[in-house]
Formats: sequence, C-alpha cells, structure tokens
Amino acid sequence: MIMGLINWHLDLEQIEVSEEWNFPNIKEDSIHRIHSYPAKFPSFITTKAIEYAKNHGVNVNTLGDLFCGCGTTAFEAKKANINYWGCDINPVATLIAKVKSESYNIGKLYLFFENIMQEYDKFINIPRSIDFITINERIKYWFTESSINELYYLKMAINNVKPRMCKYKNFFLVAFSNILKPSSKWLTKSIKPQIDPKKKEINIKEAFIIQVNTMIKAYSKVHSDFCPQIKIETKNVLKENGKDIKVDLIVTSPPYVTSYEYADLHQLSTLWLDYTNDYRSLRKGTIGSVYDTTRFKKDIKLLNSTAESIVFQLYTKDTAKSKSAARYYVDMQNVVKISYNKLTPKGIAVFVIGNTEYMGVRINNAQHLAQAMQQEGYKNLEIVKRKISRKILTPYRDDKGMFTSALDGRKVYSEEFIVIGKKE
Ligand SMILES: C[S@@+](CC[C@H](N)C(=O)[O-])C[C@H]1O[C@@H](n2cnc3c(N)ncnc32)[C@H](O)[C@@H]1O
Repeated sequence: MIMGLINWHLDLEQIEVSEEWNFPNIKEDSIHRIHSYPAKFPSFITTKAIEYAKNHGVNVNTLGDLFCGCGTTAFEAKKANINYWGCDINPVATLIAKVKSESYNIGKLYLFFENIMQEYDKFINIPRSIDFITINERIKYWFTESSINELYYLKMAINNVKPRMCKYKNFFLVAFSNILKPSSKWLTKSIKPQIDPKKKEINIKEAFIIQVNTMIKAYSKVHSDFCPQIKIETKNVLKENGKDIKVDLIVTSPPYVTSYEYADLHQLSTLWLDYTNDYRSLRKGTIGSVYDTTRFKKDIKLLNSTAESIVFQLYTKDTAKSKSAARYYVDMQNVVKISYNKLTPKGIAVFVIGNTEYMGVRINNAQHLAQAMQQEGYKNLEIVKRKISRKILTPYRDDKGMFTSALDGRKVYSEEFIVIGKKE
C-alpha cells in the first residue's frame, strides 16, 4: 500500500498481505543458522530490499542496519558485494555478525580446530582445580559443576589458540556461545529464562565438535570472492550521529515494545564471554526494555499522536508499562531521525516491525513508525504486510503481562509490517 498522506485512523490490519514480501523463492544460506538469535529476520528481506531500492533508482553502494542483530543483513550485503555498516548494542550479536560476514580459509579452520581440541584434551586429562569462588554466581545458577569445568577448559583452549588471529578465535567463540544454552539448565526453546529441573546434561565436547563441523560446512558452501568494506560496531544506535558512514539503503528490524528482554536472553553468552559480570547492566540503553521507565514527564511531551494514544491507554492498565512504552516510542522517534541523517540523498529506509498487544491494548508499532517517518521528512511512504512463519513468532505478554509465545496462533501476531520511506 503506497501512502501519500497517511490517514492515521486507518487500520493497518486492513492491508492485504503482500505475496511479494512473503516467502523467499530461494533457500536461506546455512550460515544464517550458525547461532540461534531471537527475532532474527529472514535473509531474503535484505535481498528483496536491495532489489526494491535498485528498482526505485537507488545505486546501493553501502547498506546499513541500525539493529544488526546476528548479522543477517551483514552476510547478505557481503554476498551481494555491497559495503556495509551495522551496529547493535548487544556484544553477542555483533560477535556473531562479524563472524557471519567474515571470510575464512577452511584449511586453517580445521587446523585451529585440531589445536583447540588437543589443548582441551590436555586440560581435561590433567585437570587443575577451578577456583569456584571466582565463577560468576549466575553461571553457577545455570550450569552444573561438571559442565562449568568442561566449558571453562574449552574456553581456555579457544583463548590459547595459536597463532593468535582474532577472526579465527571469534569463529570458535561463536561455536562456544551457541552450545551454552543446550549445556545449561535453561528450559529448551523457552523465551523466558527459566530452569528445566528435568533437563539432562549433554556431552559438551561432542556438542562443540558437532557445532564447529556444522559451521565449517556452512562456510564451505559459500563461494564468494567479494570483499566489500564491512564495519560492525557494538554501540547504542541512539549515540550514532549519522555523520561518519553514509548509507544508500537501510534495512533494519527494531526491537518491539513489550516483547523480548534481549539482555536477559543472552545472559549465558554475555557472562561466559566476559562481556559483563552482571547481565542486567546490558539492559541499559536497550530499546524496548521494560526496565526503562525514567523520564516519563519529559517523554510524553515528545510523543507523536499514535504513541500518545497507546501510552495513554496503557497508563490506565499498568503505569510502569506505559512509562517504558513512552520511552520506547521516544527512542524510536530518535532512531527515525538518525536513520534519515544516515542516508545519502534519495536513499531508502526499509523497517521491519510488528504490532503486539498488552493487556488488551493494541500496540501499533508499525503505525507509530510510519507516522514518525512522515514527520521526519521521509517521502513515498509505503506499508507492506507480510506473514511470519509460526516458528519465529515474536512472543508477547498476556493479559497478566506474562510472556507467552503465542502458540495459540492469534492472527494478529502472525503478521508484521515493512515500512519503506525515501529521503528527498
Ligand atoms: C529485532 S532484533 C534485530 C534482528 C536482526 N534483524 C537479525 O536478523 O538478527 C533487534 C536488535 O536491536 C538491538 N538493540 C536494542 N536496543 C538497541 C540500541 N539502543 N542500539 C543498538 N541496538 C539495539 C537488540 O540487541 C537486537 O539485536
């Protein structure tokens, strides 16, 4: 649906699902699955957006992603020989994104792998005692003592890999990171951090070997000699001034309000990879965190009319939630401003965003974003609806505010929106 002047009372639910943006006609490269990542979007969205931009007269030299997550756009940009800039506040995300968009010599990967496993076996066969007092309390909460021992030695073996080459070490750290959840007591497939008392311990060495082999296989399938410039930064996008690197096309999927608590979900990796001693510290700055309820009085004055209406409705149900929603909408309005500054003239921004619901209040993120884009000066606004596969449905909070993965398949959560705008 192309919107010239948007009627803000228009119900986005009335838009027909667009077949064009719905399903890919090619299979996703297996590199996209080397590490699980909540809210990862399908890779074909990037290829489709590149095609869209070209069809609308944009010469895409550089592609940008303000919330690059696990690097879906980074890998696709590299594959298409397009320069790339991306950022994410989550260091685990940027580690995976860097590894996904890196080129590796397969022979060297096998060599490093052999060295790591030899080192690991040495540690395991002559065990030194780990000083458990030095182990983070949260790690002790999630892992059994024997798993901590094995993971500790595995991490040491990776860190000792020689010759020291950062990009190879990162490859194995990603492999390490992806076996943490199955090695822990974390309830499998749960989006809530909770212990599964019945979970069986796995063989950590075996899991690591399988993971590395899967990753090497995925990289062996990529045949590309392209090496465009790629820059991936761990930073809060709200601190981005938009001046350094300009991009011709933005493809990005922002967090939703009241959905994931990213810092909590990635705690096993952030703790084991020493990004923090307290995973909660990473909630700070994360857009959409329910823990950000400050500045409410100032925030409400900055909201556009869509956000104001949502925040007002939430206020009567859950004051704290309405305050975090207000913060989210102000942050997103700033993100729209940053996206506009980051684009070259005539550049295009493609946002992927879903609507949610909280205690019966319709949280119309897509409409808010479209209105913010229009107010920022974006032209030729277009809003497209697409279906999401049931497997990757965004969780939402139920009537009591608790997380649920929407397994009842409520229609409203099986669709999301693509909001496109062009800079003048
Ligand atoms: C919907 S996910 C993006 C997923 C990505 N498209 C992918 O395919 O992996 C949203 C991302 O926004 C990041 N994020 C949240 N607040 C941020 C901030 N202030 N600055 C940068 N990134 C942020 C989260 O860490 C998360 O990775």
